Amino acid sequence: MKNNQTRFAILVSGRGSNMSRLIDVSKQDSDSHGSIQCVISDNKKAPALKTARDKGIKSKYISPGKKYRTRLTDKAQAKYIKYLKKNKVDYILLAGFMRMLKPGLIDSFPNRIINIHPSLLPAYSGLDTHSRVIDAGEKTTGCSVHFVDSGMDTGKLIAQSIVEVSNDDTPASLGKKVLEKEHKIYPYIMKLLADNKIEYENWKMIVV
Ligand code: GAR
Repeated sequence: MKNNQTRFAILVSGRGSNMSRLIDVSKQDSDSHGSIQCVISDNKKAPALKTARDKGIKSKYISPGKKYRTRLTDKAQAKYIKYLKKNKVDYILLAGFMRMLKPGLIDSFPNRIINIHPSLLPAYSGLDTHSRVIDAGEKTTGCSVHFVDSGMDTGKLIAQSIVEVSNDDTPASLGKKVLEKEHKIYPYIMKLLADNKIEYENWKMIVV
């Protein structure tokens, strides 16, 4: 497969700064990074939806259904799958998508759904990572890119970036430092995916 034929979708729930970076690098160099076919959000008000549209990427709100706060209903998930298949997506990149996926979606794209999380997994999965890291007196933290399974931030690790925690860091300052690393590591991993360099079975986590 030629690099520029790799088709990505991005799932977002909020601000979309990682999404923005991924769109920018793929637009600058689709030969290396593949192309982003669509952005989907479970949040009608996500600023990311407008950002994507302004950057010329098709963006769509698909309701998560009313039953859960942290998952999609089966009916909603079927709509996500249908739309992703319609767009002939090779990889799905979660970029601040704050719901866990269920087997139906995961099995439709086996080892082809990737997430970024702002901690050195398996430590500090879930929410409020930066305050928990500071409260625990950690000296280092970072971000992780990993394959998605049906657990919370539990899939096989692809790459991590390390950030030092200073004595005077607040959750906001630490979040900013980690986000800078996220904005570098995610486009890098996107490039490796577009290049077919990351194979689930043989992959050993890298630190970048
Ligand atoms: C990022 O820090 C991302 O790692 C995190 O949400 C933020 C989204 O920011 N994701 C998770 O916590 C997933 N468990 P963004 O919308 O500006 O990219």
